[in-house]
Amino acid sequence: MNASRGNWSSSFGFVLAAAGSAIGLGNIWRFPYTVGQYGGGAFVLVYLAFVALIGVPVLYAELSVGRSTQRSAVGAFKELVPDTWWPAVGGLGVLCGFGILSFYAVIAGLTLSYVYMAVLGRFTGGGLTGEQSAQVFSELTSNPVATVTLTGAFLLLTAWVVRGGIQGGIERAARILMPIFFGILLLLVMRAVTLDGAGEGLRFLFAFDFSKLTAAAIVSALGQALFSMSLGMGAMITYGSYLGRDENLPKAGITVAIFDTGLAMIAGLMIFPTLAYAGAEPTGGPPLIFIVMATIFDTMPLGSFFAVAFYGLLAIAALTSTISLLEVIVAYFVDERSWSRKKAVWSVTAACFALAVPSALSLGAVDFFTQMAGGQGFLGLANIVFGNYFLSIGAVFICLFVGWKWGVSSAVAEMNRGGQLFGAPLWGVLVRFVCPVAVLIVLVYAALTNSYL
Ligand code: PHE
Repeated sequence: MNASRGNWSSSFGFVLAAAGSAIGLGNIWRFPYTVGQYGGGAFVLVYLAFVALIGVPVLYAELSVGRSTQRSAVGAFKELVPDTWWPAVGGLGVLCGFGILSFYAVIAGLTLSYVYMAVLGRFTGGGLTGEQSAQVFSELTSNPVATVTLTGAFLLLTAWVVRGGIQGGIERAARILMPIFFGILLLLVMRAVTLDGAGEGLRFLFAFDFSKLTAAAIVSALGQALFSMSLGMGAMITYGSYLGRDENLPKAGITVAIFDTGLAMIAGLMIFPTLAYAGAEPTGGPPLIFIVMATIFDTMPLGSFFAVAFYGLLAIAALTSTISLLEVIVAYFVDERSWSRKKAVWSVTAACFALAVPSALSLGAVDFFTQMAGGQGFLGLANIVFGNYFLSIGAVFICLFVGWKWGVSSAVAEMNRGGQLFGAPLWGVLVRFVCPVAVLIVLVYAALTNSYL
């Protein structure tokens, strides 16, 4: 192992950091509003199928490439197949990480402001009506100074952790933040499922109404599965590259997958009963959790505590994910360009901030950015391009690479070094055939019908 690159202290350290990457706004912000938009249980079922049939196999593909080479997204391909065009797949991933980080940091920045408002007691002591809550949200998002500053602040926070390196920065942050995260979540779920109307919310999450299962819903379920598990852009190649050779990779991988998927479901258990309790519609789109959740804290005992806890939870979840996004890009400059970690962190953060500004201004502050892409706005467009298309394209190439170029047997041998991959032949079939074909079909369909827009 190349000690100067850094490594996780143990596979437990890896699991915490990788689960921290996977669990994020994708689970608590994107998943609930997407389930809401596509009608509930049927979407959830397709999402779960994609996680099992595509997410888990791609996760193993990425982790084995990363660990076997001990190099980050681009370098890993260079090492396995020098003098080919394959490293470009890693390059696409680095670019994608940059794109995702630029809009993700904007939403993450909003969580900071909501924590602050919750601490000030904005959501309690009289409470907010739905309209007032929408007003609070739009006042915040249409204030250019606020959104840009919050985005910058979140990026700085991320940079500060990543600057600390693998064990001293990323793993340490995960060890501190993840237990706090689970503690808060447990409290919030217990609160939510004991609210009046909880049953109705749960029915929405679990009732399979197949008439709601449109093609657009299927396309989004795939995008969501990849996004949520941080797949398709080399984050798991990079995190896998810091994993010791003798650690049990199959076990660590499945643990991360179970945590991430379990968490999306738990976030659903927290949010849908709360929505039903508030009498709110789940179809509100991206602002859903900000606007609706803010209205209910006043109606619960210990509301101000739960308000701070909820938005704090969002901020923590977002931070352990932005850390991984930044690390993918930083690791590229450190490994491939021999930059110092410090130089890489600050230059990448500054560049990312520049791309984040139009996203930050696209939530109402500047009309041009807000209205572009048929009303999706700059942030919405970045979410679609990087969060759906790039990730799907990346996942196809990673499967093709592992399945046909590097080879299933090499990957399985790598995984079996410190553990035993259960169902290895099935995994081989999934990476070679099922995953690339299924993702390609969805991608082509999405592009032809513009389903993401
Ligand atoms: N998985 C993260 C989430 O669910 C987002 C993410 C995507 C992080 C891709 C890293 C890479 O919020």
